[in-house]
Amino acid sequence: MKKIIAGSSSLMLAKNLANKLGIDIANVSIKRFPDGECYVKLNDEVEHAIVVQNTYPDENIIELFLLQDALRRVANRIDVVIPYYGYGRQDKIFEKGEAISAEKMAKLIEQDADSIILVNPHKEHIKNFFNIDAKICDAIPAIAEYFVGKIDTVIAPDKGAIYMAKKAADIMKCDYNYFEKKRISSNEVKMEIKDIDAKDKKILILDDIISTGGTMIKAIEVLKQQGANEIYVACVHGLFIGNADERILKSGCKEIVTTDTIESAYSKVSVAKEIAKLL
Ligand code: R5P
Repeated sequence: MKKIIAGSSSLMLAKNLANKLGIDIANVSIKRFPDGECYVKLNDEVEHAIVVQNTYPDENIIELFLLQDALRRVANRIDVVIPYYGYGRQDKIFEKGEAISAEKMAKLIEQDADSIILVNPHKEHIKNFFNIDAKICDAIPAIAEYFVGKIDTVIAPDKGAIYMAKKAADIMKCDYNYFEKKRISSNEVKMEIKDIDAKDKKILILDDIISTGGTMIKAIEVLKQQGANEIYVACVHGLFIGNADERILKSGCKEIVTTDTIESAYSKVSVAKEIAKLL
């Protein structure tokens, strides 16, 4: 029997995925001991498991490993869907002496998995760290569909994200552009405008991750100075560290939209359909 195993981080997406695939969510007990250690128990028969769980924050990683271990003992196939691949940012050695967290995570996860699906990992080459069948699900088309007809220009907050803005703009049939972004410290960024005529325009700023919100807030400030009419903010993974969502809204953004890779009040777009296509 094929079943979805819903990790604690991904109940909304697991439900959306179960609906798309027309299969049930397995009955699983997931508890914490008083000292914080995790306990899991499968209460259902599962032959083919589709596990949905983020590798963020840290406690979800251990929960994922335990779910995989329990499944390995009974199931004959384990597909692991990681909606938000935490530890993906450190995808290479930037300075001597560092760990490559994105690779280490892959080595641990693949021990008890037959295939893996990552939703917009921070860099595409992360999938090559896995020695099992690894696929990437792209959430940008689903986000773009949400904004069709509402936007004049899609802007990437830095040059590295321009491929997302282009892809979204193709679907939304509108212009696209990008900001020059310089990171001053881990929570301070400087944004410089690059050939953007924002006056009276409806603008969508699109990124893969919103963490502290610093990038988006800076971009909103610059666009307001340029006389933008309406500013929308969207990302795949909304972490919203330290009330970043409230600060973004206060800075003059009309609406925040994220996917259900990380559940929040802004998860208005589901990646379930795209994931289902890959399973
Ligand atoms: C950076 O490379 C990512 O694409 C995001 O731009 C970044 O994670 C956003 O971080 P924050 O919200 O803290 O500015």
